Amino acid sequence: MENFNFHVTTDIRFGKDRLAELPEVINQFGKKVLLVYGGGSIKKMGLYDKVMEQLKANDNQVFELAGVEPNPRVETVRKGAEICRKEDIDVLLAVGGGSTIDCAKAVAAATLYEGDAWDMVLQRRKFQGPALPLVTILTLAATGSEMNNAGVISNLSTNQKLGVGSPSMLPKVSFLDPENTFTVSKYQTAAGSADILSHLMENYFKRTEGTDVQDFVSEGLMRSVIKNCPVALKYPDDYDARANLMWASTLALNGLTGNGKTGSWSCHPMEHELSAFYDITHGVGLAILTPRWMEYALNDETVAKFAQFAWNVWDVEERVPMMAARIGIQKTYDYFKSCDIPMTLPEVGINEEKFAIMAKQAVDHNAIKTDAYVPMDVSDVESIYEACLTESSFV
Ligand code: NZQ
Ligand code: ZN
Repeated sequence: MENFNFHVTTDIRFGKDRLAELPEVINQFGKKVLLVYGGGSIKKMGLYDKVMEQLKANDNQVFELAGVEPNPRVETVRKGAEICRKEDIDVLLAVGGGSTIDCAKAVAAATLYEGDAWDMVLQRRKFQGPALPLVTILTLAATGSEMNNAGVISNLSTNQKLGVGSPSMLPKVSFLDPENTFTVSKYQTAAGSADILSHLMENYFKRTEGTDVQDFVSEGLMRSVIKNCPVALKYPDDYDARANLMWASTLALNGLTGNGKTGSWSCHPMEHELSAFYDITHGVGLAILTPRWMEYALNDETVAKFAQFAWNVWDVEERVPMMAARIGIQKTYDYFKSCDIPMTLPEVGINEEKFAIMAKQAVDHNAIKTDAYVPMDVSDVESIYEACLTESSFV
């Protein structure tokens, strides 16, 4: 296991009926609030009114940044930063899924950044600037953005979708009420669950040895998602299913399963290019790529880990490691399919036309050629994209 720091200070307020705590939370940071939200789901579900009621009773002065896009755009970040500067905002309140929270993180930092917001994003993990305080109310279990310090911002004019992160962007407080996810559609529930699984798998398949704690915690979290996503799909207002998905979302990407292991992720870099060029749903892109990437990564050196994954996550009975590994990959594929996720690229409107440029960017924007679990060059990424053109079988 590698050395690591674990200092994730987000104050998590988990559970139902906790919105009355909002004034006390907001008052820690000031009176002027920028409320950040997406395309209107929070209005439909009645959450907007409940939040406004609390803020009004607390004498907050509220400004709004509405219409944050899924795959949030840099233009929206600029717009938010402008409001914060002009109105001298004290604290941001993001109410929504990962896109809304990511956008709010970037606005919080861009407000205090001297240059253009996109220049800030281009600094990626090297960005160390300050940010305004951020409080979140999560409405979709998926990204883990509610308890990590990264945000992913898209620039459609350059076909770039890049993560930027700094300790200052970590939410101060996050409200996680599973009831706020009852209205999430089947498609987004399945996509969000695929994203959680992918975060766990990206951290699980790393070259660092001797990480039983991280790996066994990951296996337990994967099993929780695999069990609870189908329940939430069938019974959208099953509180415990939604609660388990929500807490798994948070724990999958707050450092718990990733710290102490090094190496670049593999599927996220490839997926971010699909989203950058085709604006698809992040979790769906990951579900399509993951089993094909697994087949690419399975070899004599990695087979032991893939067999462990098959045995401990999927309860595969086959004892021959290579065969067990293949069955585990098949089960991963079949699981996503059983959640009604489209499992080929043509089903989400993507053909081979841009594979070459997307593969090049995936390699250029990340360390997958040198530092991934199984290193990938441009032609490897292209062949993984190609494998996603048709249905697959792994055994
Ligand atoms: O726009 P609204 O009206 O809010 O509707 C959203 C959106 O259409 C809707 N939704 C959210 N909560 C809902 C709801 N609909 C009904 N009821 C509710 N309670 O769902 C749609 C998708 O929302 P979005 O926020 O885009 O989804 P998600 O949470 O999956 O976020 C995806 C974004 O996060 C990035 C992705 O790349 C993508 O841009 N990621 C962020 C990460 C991070 N910050 O650590 C890591 C991830 O790997 C990921 O890259
Ligand atoms: Zn993700």
